[in-house]
Amino acid sequence: MSELKLKVIELQTSETYSLRIAVLRNNTPTSDPKYAEDSKPGTIHLGIYDADKNLIGTSTWVLNPWQNDINAQAIQLRGMAVAKNLQGTGLGALLLSAGVIHAEKLKAKYIWAKARDSALNFYLRHDFAAVGDGFTEGITQMPHHLVVRELKI
Ligand SMILES: CC(C)(COP(=O)(O)OP(=O)(O)OC[C@H]1O[C@@H](n2cnc3c(N)ncnc32)[C@H](O)[C@@H]1OP(=O)(O)O)[C@@H](O)C(=O)NCCC(=O)NCCS
Repeated sequence: MSELKLKVIELQTSETYSLRIAVLRNNTPTSDPKYAEDSKPGTIHLGIYDADKNLIGTSTWVLNPWQNDINAQAIQLRGMAVAKNLQGTGLGALLLSAGVIHAEKLKAKYIWAKARDSALNFYLRHDFAAVGDGFTEGITQMPHHLVVRELKI
């Protein structure tokens, strides 16, 4: 597989489900891949297919205020998942770059996420800062931190 040919494209909501289930619902109390924000106006999904038309990366970008500056335009990143056998090969970084471009087009000041502690370093390496104490997220029951990246607008 040549990574140079991989493109980030916009997905329909239903296209995200299988990868969300495989990567984000594994070892959690639920197998439901749907988010309430999927149908929120302004939500988009960005993903990557491989040459065999398998979805190998997905991410969801939701218009949602950042708690510490609620009047500024902000985007919440949800459902960030890369196929297990391809994690660590740069696909997450590719999705994130496309999401940052999307956020910049909307003149967003922040991108924020509830980051799993197991993935926290991914966000910290990409200019996000962890904010506040860790918490157990309700759906997955996994330890998380809020992370935020301020964009130059
Ligand atoms: C987290 C995730 C989306 C990152 O995507 P990825 O394609 O694996 O990440 P990349 O290959 O683009 O890595 C980018 C950088 O982050 C680091 N990184 C990636 N995943 C990491 C992790 N879980 N922990 C620590 N660092 C990580 C890489 O070392 C790399 O750093 P470098 O560029 O300095 O070498 C992916 O690993 C994944 O799907 N994990 C399981 C599901 C998950 O936790 N999703 C996030 C929910 S908040």
